[in-house]
Amino acid sequence: MSVVLYPGSFDPFHLGHLDVIEQSVELFGNVTVAAMHNPTKPSGMFNLDERMEMIKASVAHLPTVTVRSFSGLAVDAARDTNAGFIVKGLRTGGDFEIEQQMAHTNHAVAGVRTVYLPCKPSLVFISSRFIRELAKYGGDVAELVPAPVAARLADLN
Ligand code: PNS
Repeated sequence: MSVVLYPGSFDPFHLGHLDVIEQSVELFGNVTVAAMHNPTKPSGMFNLDERMEMIKASVAHLPTVTVRSFSGLAVDAARDTNAGFIVKGLRTGGDFEIEQQMAHTNHAVAGVRTVYLPCKPSLVFISSRFIRELAKYGGDVAELVPAPVAARLADLN
């Protein structure tokens, strides 16, 4: 089976992301998770190394998953990791709009294909943005993120 690349900001990593990784392992076998810089979200909460460490701790039970960080293009990360294609999770129609644009662009400029996976219905409402807001004001995010991320966020307050 080929390696697939799952790129994202993961700032922070949450249970919806973990679901996409678990689906990808089931369908494709080997998965490289790429914590990426998103130029449209410059003011993040954690740096790339911190995000990567939280993802590693959250996927420790999945031996076919590798976690890396990249600061360039997703298509270059796909090439560097020998990924056959990119996987992305879709929560809502809003996600589809932006993901479709990125998928077409990545295929047009580098021939890299993207496969969408529907997020588990019980997790579609989860977003990193609202987790950041909750964490900033000391809200409880334990139901939204894996335990290693919850512990790291609790440390902030
Ligand atoms: O989790 P996000 O913020 O939806 O992930 C978006 C991400 C990081 C995958 C996207 O911004 C990205 O691919 N960034 C790397 C730069 C890049 O390749 N830009 C061209 C996109 S067509």
